[in-house]
Amino acid sequence: MTVASEIKATFEFKPGLEGVPATMSSISFVDGQKGILEYRGIPIQELAEKSTFLETCYLLIWGELPTKQELEAFEHEIRYHRRIKYRIRDMMKCFPESGHPMDALQACAAALGLFYSRRALDDPAYIRAAVVRLLAKIPTMVAAFQMMRKGNDPIQPRDDLDYSANFLYMLTEQEPDPLAARVFDICLMLHAEHTMNASTFSARVTASTLTDPYAVVASAVGTLAGPLHGGANEEVMTMLAEIGTVENVRPYVEHCIQNKKKIMGFGHRVYKVKDPRATILQNLAEKLFEKFGRDKYYDVAVELEKVVAEKLGHKGIYANVDFYSGLVYRKLGIPDDLFTPIFAIARVGGWLAHWKEQLAENRIYRPTQIYTGSHQAPYVPIEER
Ligand SMILES: CC(C)(COP(=O)(O)OP(=O)(O)OC[C@H]1O[C@@H](n2cnc3c(N)ncnc32)[C@H](O)[C@@H]1OP(=O)(O)O)[C@@H](O)C(=O)NCCC(=O)NCCS
Repeated sequence: MTVASEIKATFEFKPGLEGVPATMSSISFVDGQKGILEYRGIPIQELAEKSTFLETCYLLIWGELPTKQELEAFEHEIRYHRRIKYRIRDMMKCFPESGHPMDALQACAAALGLFYSRRALDDPAYIRAAVVRLLAKIPTMVAAFQMMRKGNDPIQPRDDLDYSANFLYMLTEQEPDPLAARVFDICLMLHAEHTMNASTFSARVTASTLTDPYAVVASAVGTLAGPLHGGANEEVMTMLAEIGTVENVRPYVEHCIQNKKKIMGFGHRVYKVKDPRATILQNLAEKLFEKFGRDKYYDVAVELEKVVAEKLGHKGIYANVDFYSGLVYRKLGIPDDLFTPIFAIARVGGWLAHWKEQLAENRIYRPTQIYTGSHQAPYVPIEER
C-alpha cells in the first residue's frame, strides 16, 4: 500500500462498517426516520395483518407472494419434514441441560449438514429442499432441547397443526389457543428479516464461500446469540421486574440518564422514531392481556415508554422491537431464555433469502484491513526472550 492509499483507507475506515453498503439487496427496506419496514416492498403492517409466517418466508426467499397452490404445496412439505432424525435427538441427549438453548441450536443446525451432505447449489430442487428442511426442523430442535433439559422426552410434531400452533404445542404438550398461535405467528413475521444486521451479514459471508446452507444458518445463529444482537428482550423483562411499580419509573429513568446507563428496549442504530414492529407488538400484547389477563408489568412498560419518549425523544430514542416482545412471549408461557432461539426460528426465513440472493450473484467476501503492526521484526531465539 502506498502512503496515499493508506491515508485514504484510514479515512474511509468505519468501525463496525457502519453505513458501508455490504451488498445490493431487494429483500427488505428500512427507513429509520419515517419508521418504515418493508419486505419485498410490502409494508410490515400489511403482512402482520394479512399474511402468515410461512407465506412471508416464501415471499422473502422467492421474491413474490405465492399463489394458493404454491403456498399449499410449500406448507405441506414443511409440515411433513418437521421430524428430526433419532441420531440428532441422541446427539442432543448428550448436551448439558445447563447449556444455553442458542448453543444447542447452533450445534443442531450445523449437524443437519452431516445428514444432508449433498451440495448442489445450482439445483433449484436442492435449494428448495434445504429451505424446507431448515424451516421445518429448527423449531422442532428448539422445542426438543427445551423438553430434554427438563428431563422429558421431546414431543413429536403434530401434522394437523399449523407451523406456529405446532411449535407452541411441542413446547407445552397442549394445543394452544388460536389467538395465542396467531399472535406467535405474527411475532415470527415481525422478526423474519431486517436488512444488513450482524447475523445476516454473517450468513452472507458464509454463503459466499459456497458452503452448505446448514453451515450458513449455523454461523448466523452463532452471531445472533451475542447480547448486542438477540437477547435484549430478555433484559427488558429483568429491567421491568427491577423497576417493579409505575411510581418507580420516573426515578429509574432519571437515574439511568444521570449515570449514562442504557434503558433496555429503547434506541436503535437505524430507527430514530418508534420501531414499527414495537407498535404492532404492543397491540398484540393488549389483545393477549384482554383474553388471558393483564401482565403485572404492562403498566410499568407503558409508563416507561411515556417517560423515555419525554426525556430522550429529542435524541431519537424510542421503543424498539424488543420492548414489547418479551411481554408477549411471557404471556404465551415461553421461558425467557427461549426468546433468542425464537428470534432465530423467525430469522431463518431472512437468512435463507439472503443465502439464495448471495448465490445468484456470488463473489466471495474478501474485505481488506489497515495493518497497524510492525515490519521486519527480528525473530528472537526462545532462550533470549
Ligand atoms: C440499540 C443501540 C445499541 C443503538 O445504539 P447506537 O445507535 O450506537 O446509539 P448510541 O449507543 O451511540 O447512543 C446515542 C446516544 O443515545 C443514548 N442512548 C441510546 N440508547 C439508549 C438507551 N436505550 N437508553 C438511554 N440512552 C440511550 C446514548 O447514551 C447516547 O447518548 P449521548 O449522545 O449523550 O452519548 C442502543 O440504543 C442500545 O444499547 N439500546 C438498548 C439495548 C437494546 O434495546 N437493544 C436492542 C436493539 S433492537
